[in-house]
Amino acid sequence: MNISMVGLGYVGAVCCACFAEEGHNIIGMDIDRVKVDLINDGKAPIVEKDLDEYISKNVKENRLRATTDLKEAINNSDVTIISVGTPSKSNGDIDLTYIKEAAKAIGEKIKQKDAFHIVSMRSTVLPGTGKNVVIPVIEEVSGKKEGIDFGYVSNPEFLRESSAIYDFYNPPKTVVGTDDEKSASVFKELYAFLKAPYFETDIEVAEMIKYADNSWHAVKVTFANEIGLICKRVDIDARKVMDIFCTDRKLNISPYYLKPGFAFGGSCLPKDVKAITYKAKSLDENTQLLNSLIPSNRYQIERVFYHFIKPLKKRKIGLLGISFKADTDDLRESPVLELAEILIGKGYEVKIYDKNISLSKEKGANKLLLENELPHINVRLKNDLNGVIENSEILIIGNSDDKFKNIDFLSYKDKTFIDLMRINSDISHDNYIGIAW
Ligand SMILES: NC(=O)c1ccc[n+]([C@@H]2O[C@H](COP(=O)([O-])OP(=O)(O)OC[C@H]3O[C@@H](n4cnc5c(N)ncnc54)[C@H](O)[C@@H]3O)[C@@H](O)[C@H]2O)c1
Repeated sequence: MNISMVGLGYVGAVCCACFAEEGHNIIGMDIDRVKVDLINDGKAPIVEKDLDEYISKNVKENRLRATTDLKEAINNSDVTIISVGTPSKSNGDIDLTYIKEAAKAIGEKIKQKDAFHIVSMRSTVLPGTGKNVVIPVIEEVSGKKEGIDFGYVSNPEFLRESSAIYDFYNPPKTVVGTDDEKSASVFKELYAFLKAPYFETDIEVAEMIKYADNSWHAVKVTFANEIGLICKRVDIDARKVMDIFCTDRKLNISPYYLKPGFAFGGSCLPKDVKAITYKAKSLDENTQLLNSLIPSNRYQIERVFYHFIKPLKKRKIGLLGISFKADTDDLRESPVLELAEILIGKGYEVKIYDKNISLSKEKGANKLLLENELPHINVRLKNDLNGVIENSEILIIGNSDDKFKNIDFLSYKDKTFIDLMRINSDISHDNYIGIAW
């Protein structure tokens, strides 16, 4: 393939060298003449293991050259990959100055080109940047249409400096976000040499994945460090703790607990987070990440009320499931119970259906708790699911009881279903609100 790369920094230089090594014809383009000259002299413009060798070999074998002339780069390529910097502004926002300049310049050049051209974003940009910034700039400047005259691909980079070439060949995954079929098939071919899992998805999903990844990596480091500082103060070797922690592939290092949804609850998580953060506080240590968990979890509950329920301006609410998860009658620290209490406190007319809570009340297990400590919940518990649905304007699905999966949302057009669990995979109904999807 004939590929041009706009921006020859850490990402651009490595990608140029590796794509050339894979046999493609690469033209690197940068506004920085020093970097361009270094590449044309067969030298790496940055310090990175093995990069000098890759660049000098591919320049010598005429698969790689660099220029400051974007017109030349675009005219001699079918795909242009953007890898300019996206630094932070002083307020933390992403600075899109270089991205906008590059998009404008690319638009001007593809205006003069007849052939279909693919523009790909390798730089890290916030979700929405492709559709709301880059594509409109290129369309406006070139007078061409995305999907017809040019294709757009979001293809985030996952390499780490110091092992960048190794990471290029061994990425954790390849993510290609596009709504253009032609571009999708070109990128599939471009990455055919990699063994890594390959994901074709929406542009915005591809953009967001990079932020989910890097936020997660930052959470991991900070979490391990906070466990470390507690351990140090109580004379425990934190490395021993985390080594064992990391062997748990069932609950710890696994997809478990990583599905966006509603707040956590139950008899253990809130209690144990409170205890360990109290311990840290009593040791005069500041575990800011761990301390944030209970307030953040509380926000998840309040958000459902303020963002989804209140704006509907309806008063009759049916809560389907109130225990913290299906198949249990444990009400301890149930976030749905807390939501119910917010609603009851604000004078909403609340009906509750939860077969396990009703059953345990009949059997006597939860009887005393409901009568003595939760009488406001007890009087609102109903045994008839259909009755609760019929007599409510808003239905909140609070756990994933099988019975709720079979509710036909379409047959209740006058009611709104707020799903805390993603009980239904068909989320396109007008009367359905998912809290994170
Ligand atoms: N560095 C990393 O390890 C890494 C890893 C993954 C993703 N990323 C992302 O990749 C992007 C690039 O990062 P980097 O570290 O390579 O940046 P960098 O600052 O090293 O390089 C950016 C290059 O773009 C050039 N440039 C700026 N405007 C230009 C224009 N209009 N035309 C041509 N060239 C232009 C600059 O001269 C510079 O050489 C960023 O969005 C970054 O977040 C970086």
